[in-house]
Formats: sequence, C-alpha cells, structure tokens
Amino acid sequence: MPVRAALVLHGPNLNLLGTREPGVYGRVTLGEVDRLLREHGRRRGLRVECRQSNLEGELIGWLQTARRDGFSGVVLNPGAFTHYSIALRDAVSAIDVPVVEVHLSNIHGREEFRRHSVIAAVARGQIAGFGPHSYVLGLEALLALDLGRPRVNQRRRPRV
Ligand code: DQA
Repeated sequence: MPVRAALVLHGPNLNLLGTREPGVYGRVTLGEVDRLLREHGRRRGLRVECRQSNLEGELIGWLQTARRDGFSGVVLNPGAFTHYSIALRDAVSAIDVPVVEVHLSNIHGREEFRRHSVIAAVARGQIAGFGPHSYVLGLEALLALDLGRPRVNQRRRPRV
C-alpha cells in the first residue's frame, strides 16, 4: 500500500508567502504552493491536504492526530520553529508517521541562527533551498519511502 494521503504543514509566517521578503522566498503565494502540491499529488495518486498555522500548539496537534486523520506521511515546513522548538521536535519524534522537513530557502547558507534545525535529527530527512519545489521533493521523498512495507522492513530513524 503506497502513501495515499500526505499532510503538508506550513509553520509561522508562511501565510505571507508572495509578499514576505520576496528576495528570499519568491513571489509565489501559499495558495499557489498548495495548489501545485495538490496537483502534483493527483498526478502521483496521492491525496494532499495542506494546513498552515502561526501557532506551535496547533502544529503539534496536527502532528499528533496525523495518523488518526488518515495521513501516512507529513511534509513539514516548521518556519522559525525549526530553530528552537523542542516541543515541535518532541511531537515529530513521538509519532510513527514519517515526517520530511522542508524549507523554501537554503537555511544552511543563511544567518548563523538558521543553520541549525532542532527538527532535522528526528525527521526522516530534510530538503532545503528549492523554493516551492522543496515541498514537491518532500512529497516525492514520502513516496520513495514505500510506506506500505511491513513495519519490520522499515528503516527506523536513528536515535539521537
Ligand atoms: C523557512 C526558513 C526559516 O528560517 C524561516 O524562519 C521561515 C521559512 C524556509 O522555508 O526557508 O519562516 O522555514
């Protein structure tokens, strides 16, 4: 059974895409990103649902209920929470749904404080620097995990 439904979570300030620092994040709006992802999902036989929140607790709640809500994978752009939210990290670590961390910008080539992600070690992987395409690659990463395999065949994320 392949991944049938993926949840895309956008963190704080990503609702401002299109007008927020266009030199860094481009001119594409969040609505356009979400449309692109849903269309990509349709082509790949994957239902894609996109949600955005500026609230840490809301993102955590959505991670906790992802499996119950029928999602078998999550693409997460934690925004600035990437760099300091241990609560979000703990939520990613607590759930058995694979989470791929994505960023529009290449956080490793930006300010020092953006170069460290507290999420990365507990995510299945990280994709950064490809603009909206980072999310598309995130969906492809979930598909590549071949999540339908029996649990015992799945590579567990390394302990940190
Ligand atoms: C971001 C990078 C973060 O450092 C920043 O706080 C964001 C967006 C990205 O997608 O490039 O809000 O996650």
